[in-house]
Amino acid sequence: MKPLLLGLERSSVPIWRIENSSVTSGSTTPASRCRSSSASSSPSCFSIEASLAMFARLREGARFLDELEQRLWDDEDFVYAGSTVDAVDHREIEKIFVDAPAAPGRYHARDLSAKLSWIADDEQDDSLRVRFSFGHEATRDWLTPGPRTEWSDRFAERVFPECAVITESTPLRAVLDACLDRSWRLSERIVYANTPGGGAMFHHDADPGQRGVVFAQLAGHTVWLALPRAELVDRLAETSAGLGDADSIGAALDGEPDPRLWDALNANPTLTAQLASTGRLLVLTPGDALLLPSHSAECCAWHSVFGVGDARSLAHSYGIFDHA
Ligand SMILES: [Fe+2]
Repeated sequence: MKPLLLGLERSSVPIWRIENSSVTSGSTTPASRCRSSSASSSPSCFSIEASLAMFARLREGARFLDELEQRLWDDEDFVYAGSTVDAVDHREIEKIFVDAPAAPGRYHARDLSAKLSWIADDEQDDSLRVRFSFGHEATRDWLTPGPRTEWSDRFAERVFPECAVITESTPLRAVLDACLDRSWRLSERIVYANTPGGGAMFHHDADPGQRGVVFAQLAGHTVWLALPRAELVDRLAETSAGLGDADSIGAALDGEPDPRLWDALNANPTLTAQLASTGRLLVLTPGDALLLPSHSAECCAWHSVFGVGDARSLAHSYGIFDHA
């Protein structure tokens, strides 16, 4: 139940670090070109650098649809089906839908989506993310396993070939095999592009059927505060007297948004120092993967994450699910 940090260095897929001059020379290579030449082994595949460049263009106002078109222009499995912008969710920039046709009038899967959003409500934070899913968000279709899960994962791999760094990582696969008692899949994929100082406040990712999350740092750095929920309750009780006892704090964590709790979690240097002194502050560098278990809302890893350093950050986060 504790977060686990492990390396991807022994991945069968090399991590192309942006500091490598041979990589930076490929910054404009369309990621889709990497597919046919095998994202897993070709030194001509610069998908991480290409993705960093893509997010930089998106921050400058490039259209997400144009970027996807550039990455999927020769793809034979997915066809564009439409775009929407959520008028209520002010963080959403654009949601693009594709279908996977099987034959005229027949489909392997429909309503697969890639949603580009700002990560934070703070207008000063231009961190971005792309989430791959399917169906309706309001009815949480993604919690129901089926053929669309596999096609959604495949869609993510086509748009971001660097997915293979995570999915083909030998040490990661070994850890997941050891931790889980059945076959697993990595779905509901999210690609994060944090800018320095930008990120997410304390939260958990427990959802029905989601056994946890694996977060893999591919470029730049992020700093994490990550720990089991029960331990967080204890630390809050020690550092925020106004929140009451452990039972009250536990109820507050599960309850409606509470400004006092928010401040205690996210604006209390004493808590941060306490967590750092007990090994709960982690700095992820390229090649690090963090496992965040979530057995239930009561037994899961709480965490906050921010980009640090001067380098642009690229990271992938996948939900861990039982394989159907
Ligand atoms: Fe999270």
